Amino acid sequence: MSVSFVVNGEARTVEADADTPLLWVLREQLGLAGTKFGCGIGACGACTVHINGAATRACSVPVSALDGAQVTTIEGLAPVDAPHAVQAAWVAQQVPQCGYCQSGMIMAVSALLARNARPTDAQIDAELTNLCRCGTYERIRRAIHSLADAGVSHG
Ligand code: FES
Ligand code: FES
Repeated sequence: MSVSFVVNGEARTVEADADTPLLWVLREQLGLAGTKFGCGIGACGACTVHINGAATRACSVPVSALDGAQVTTIEGLAPVDAPHAVQAAWVAQQVPQCGYCQSGMIMAVSALLARNARPTDAQIDAELTNLCRCGTYERIRRAIHSLADAGVSHG
Protein backbone atom coordinates (compact mmCIF):
# COMPACT_ATOMS: atom_id res chain seq x y z
CA MET A 1 0.00 0.00 0.00
CA SER A 2 0.97 3.64 -0.38
CA VAL A 3 1.17 5.82 2.75
CA SER A 4 1.79 9.56 2.84
CA PHE A 5 2.96 11.33 5.96
CA VAL A 6 5.30 14.08 7.06
CA VAL A 7 8.71 13.13 8.44
CA ASN A 8 10.85 15.84 10.00
CA GLY A 9 8.85 18.49 8.18
CA GLU A 10 9.10 16.84 4.76
CA ALA A 11 6.19 15.18 2.94
CA ARG A 12 7.03 11.56 2.19
CA THR A 13 5.16 8.76 0.44
CA VAL A 14 6.25 5.15 0.93
CA GLU A 15 5.17 1.81 -0.49
CA ALA A 16 5.02 -0.94 2.12
CA ASP A 17 2.91 -3.81 3.39
CA ALA A 18 0.25 -2.43 5.72
CA ASP A 19 1.70 -4.14 8.78
CA THR A 20 5.29 -2.99 8.21
CA PRO A 21 6.48 -1.29 11.39
CA LEU A 22 7.28 2.41 11.12
CA LEU A 23 10.77 1.64 12.44
CA TRP A 24 11.59 -0.41 9.35
CA VAL A 25 10.31 2.31 7.05
CA LEU A 26 12.32 5.00 8.81
CA ARG A 27 15.57 3.07 8.84
CA GLU A 28 15.44 1.13 5.60
CA GLN A 29 13.33 3.20 3.23
CA LEU A 30 13.97 6.72 4.45
CA GLY A 31 17.56 6.26 5.65
CA LEU A 32 16.88 7.68 9.11
CA ALA A 33 19.08 5.35 11.14
CA GLY A 34 19.18 7.50 14.27
CA THR A 35 16.08 5.66 15.49
CA LYS A 36 17.36 2.38 16.89
CA PHE A 37 16.13 -1.20 16.90
CA GLY A 38 16.36 -2.78 20.32
CA CYS A 39 13.70 -5.35 21.19
CA GLY A 40 11.13 -5.03 18.41
CA ILE A 41 8.28 -5.67 20.86
CA GLY A 42 7.63 -2.24 22.32
CA ALA A 43 9.56 -2.91 25.52
CA CYS A 44 12.85 -0.99 25.39
CA GLY A 45 12.06 2.39 23.85
CA ALA A 46 15.19 2.54 21.67
CA CYS A 47 12.91 3.23 18.69
CA THR A 48 11.00 6.15 20.26
CA VAL A 49 9.87 8.89 17.85
CA HIS A 50 7.19 11.56 18.05
CA ILE A 51 3.93 10.90 16.21
CA ASN A 52 1.80 14.03 16.22
CA GLY A 53 3.92 15.18 19.17
CA ALA A 54 3.49 12.08 21.32
CA ALA A 55 6.40 9.78 22.17
CA THR A 56 5.69 6.50 20.38
CA ARG A 57 7.60 3.26 19.87
CA ALA A 58 8.16 3.00 16.14
CA CYS A 59 8.61 -0.78 16.21
CA SER A 60 5.00 -1.15 17.35
CA VAL A 61 3.18 1.14 14.92
CA PRO A 62 2.17 -0.23 11.51
CA VAL A 63 2.86 2.16 8.70
CA SER A 64 -0.80 1.86 7.66
CA ALA A 65 -1.75 3.85 10.79
CA LEU A 66 0.31 6.84 9.73
CA ASP A 67 -1.51 8.33 6.76
CA GLY A 68 -1.42 12.11 7.27
CA ALA A 69 0.60 11.89 10.50
CA GLN A 70 3.46 14.15 11.56
CA VAL A 71 6.49 12.08 12.52
CA THR A 72 9.62 13.51 14.11
CA THR A 73 12.78 11.46 14.57
CA ILE A 74 15.99 12.35 16.39
CA GLU A 75 17.31 13.75 13.11
CA GLY A 76 14.46 16.26 12.98
CA LEU A 77 14.27 17.25 16.64
CA ALA A 78 16.50 20.29 16.09
CA PRO A 79 19.05 21.60 13.58
CA VAL A 80 22.57 20.22 14.02
CA ASP A 81 23.94 23.71 14.71
CA ALA A 82 21.19 24.55 17.24
CA PRO A 83 20.61 21.51 19.44
CA HIS A 84 17.35 21.01 21.28
CA ALA A 85 17.51 21.98 24.96
CA VAL A 86 17.35 18.31 25.93
CA GLN A 87 20.30 17.49 23.67
CA ALA A 88 22.29 20.39 25.16
CA ALA A 89 21.50 19.17 28.67
CA TRP A 90 22.58 15.65 27.67
CA VAL A 91 25.96 17.04 26.59
CA ALA A 92 26.34 19.24 29.68
CA GLN A 93 25.52 16.36 32.03
CA GLN A 94 27.49 13.79 29.98
CA VAL A 95 24.47 11.46 29.98
CA PRO A 96 25.33 8.85 27.31
CA GLN A 97 27.54 5.85 27.88
CA CYS A 98 27.41 3.52 24.84
CA GLY A 99 24.71 5.78 23.40
CA TYR A 100 22.51 3.09 21.87
CA CYS A 101 19.38 3.95 23.84
CA GLN A 102 19.92 7.68 23.86
CA SER A 103 18.12 8.85 20.74
CA GLY A 104 15.00 7.11 22.05
CA MET A 105 15.60 8.55 25.50
CA ILE A 106 15.93 12.09 24.14
CA MET A 107 12.73 11.72 22.10
CA ALA A 108 10.87 10.39 25.14
CA VAL A 109 12.21 13.10 27.44
CA SER A 110 11.50 15.93 25.00
CA ALA A 111 7.88 14.77 24.70
CA LEU A 112 7.59 14.44 28.49
CA LEU A 113 8.96 17.94 29.07
CA ALA A 114 6.62 19.42 26.46
CA ARG A 115 3.76 18.23 28.68
CA ASN A 116 5.41 18.82 32.05
CA ALA A 117 8.44 21.12 32.21
CA ARG A 118 9.17 20.27 35.85
CA PRO A 119 8.55 16.56 36.44
CA THR A 120 9.24 15.03 39.83
CA ASP A 121 11.44 11.96 40.20
CA ALA A 122 8.28 9.89 40.62
CA GLN A 123 6.80 11.31 37.41
CA ILE A 124 10.07 10.68 35.55
CA ASP A 125 10.11 7.08 36.77
CA ALA A 126 6.45 6.56 35.86
CA GLU A 127 6.56 8.16 32.42
CA LEU A 128 10.07 7.42 31.19
CA THR A 129 9.89 3.68 30.68
CA ASN A 130 12.76 3.47 28.17
CA LEU A 131 15.50 1.03 29.14
CA CYS A 132 19.23 1.78 29.34
CA ARG A 133 21.57 -1.17 29.73
CA CYS A 134 24.37 1.20 30.74
CA GLY A 135 22.35 2.52 33.69
CA THR A 136 22.38 6.22 32.83
CA TYR A 137 19.12 6.83 34.69
CA GLU A 138 20.67 9.03 37.38
CA ARG A 139 22.33 11.28 34.82
CA ILE A 140 19.07 11.46 32.87
CA ARG A 141 17.28 12.67 35.98
CA ARG A 142 20.02 15.20 36.61
CA ALA A 143 19.74 16.52 33.05
CA ILE A 144 15.95 16.79 33.28
CA HIS A 145 16.17 18.66 36.59
CA SER A 146 18.88 20.96 35.20
CA LEU A 147 16.44 22.07 32.51
CA ALA A 148 13.71 22.70 35.06
CA ASP A 149 16.13 24.64 37.28
CA ALA A 150 17.18 26.75 34.30
CA GLY A 151 13.52 27.51 33.55
CA VAL A 152 13.72 26.10 30.04
CA SER A 153 10.34 26.09 28.32
CA HIS A 154 9.57 23.21 25.96
CA GLY A 155 6.12 24.27 24.81
S1 FES B 1 12.79 -1.59 19.52
FE1 FES B 1 10.92 -0.60 19.83
S2 FES B 1 10.54 -0.68 21.95
FE2 FES B 1 12.39 -1.83 21.67
S1 FES C 1 23.76 4.51 27.13
FE1 FES C 1 24.15 2.41 26.66
S2 FES C 1 22.16 1.52 26.65
FE2 FES C 1 21.85 3.50 27.39
